[in-house]
Amino acid sequence: MKYISVAIDGPAGAGKSSVSKTAAKSLGFTYIDTGAMYRAAALFAIENGINIKNDTDALINRLDEINITIKYTDEGQRVYLSDRDVSERIRGEDVSVGASDVAVIPQVRGKLVELQRKMAKSANVIMDGRDICSYVLPDAQVKIFLTASLQSRAMRRYKELCEKGIECDFDKIKADMEYRDKNDSQRTVAPLRKADDAVLIDTTELDFEQSVEKIKELIQNVL
Ligand code: DC
Repeated sequence: MKYISVAIDGPAGAGKSSVSKTAAKSLGFTYIDTGAMYRAAALFAIENGINIKNDTDALINRLDEINITIKYTDEGQRVYLSDRDVSERIRGEDVSVGASDVAVIPQVRGKLVELQRKMAKSANVIMDGRDICSYVLPDAQVKIFLTASLQSRAMRRYKELCEKGIECDFDKIKADMEYRDKNDSQRTVAPLRKADDAVLIDTTELDFEQSVEKIKELIQNVL
C-alpha cells in the first residue's frame, strides 16, 4: 500500500509541532516529530559527559549505543532513549541547544534519517523537521515551509514555557533561537532552507486555528 507523506520544515518555534499534531489528529495521520530524535541524541551526549561541540568523535564512537525508539500512545508521540521515556526531559533549553549542535554531525543525521524514512513507509504521516522536504522525504505528496518572525517565535515559546510553569527568560529564549536559526541554516549538511517545491506559510499574523486550516487544506487537496 502506498502511504501519503506530508513534509513540513521550518525554524524553531514556528508552530510546526503543535500545528502538525492537530492536523494529523484530525486527518487520522501519524505525526512524527524528527526534532525529538535529535534532542534524544543530544541528551545521550549530555548525560554521558560528551562535549558535543569539542568532542564530536567521542559521540560518533558511541553512535551504536544511542537507541532511540518512538512509541505512540493516546497522548501522542513518546520518545525513548534506550528504555527510558525522555519525552519531557528533551524539552529543556540545554537539550534544545545541544540538539542543534548534534544535528551538524553527518553520522548522527545518517542514523536518524534512516529511522525517519522507515517510519514514513509504514503509515500516512505528517513529519516535521528541517530537511524533510529536501532530503528525508523528497517524494512527499505535500511539502510545506512553515515560518514566522523571530520575535513572534520567541514570544510563543516564552508563553508556552510560562504556561507549563517553567521559569524562563524571554531574551535568553530569543538569543538561543537566533543561535539555532543560524546553526541550522548555515551548516553544510542538510541545512534548513525552503525546498523549491515547498509551499511557504508565514504564521506571524495567523492564529493557531488558521495555521491548522491552511495545512489541512493543502493535505485535503491530495487526498
Ligand atoms: O524541531 P526542534 O526544535 O525540536 O529540533 C531540535 C534541533 O534538531 C534543531 O535545532 C535542529 C535539529 N533538527 C534537524 O537538524 N533536522 C531535523 N529534521 C529536525 C531537527
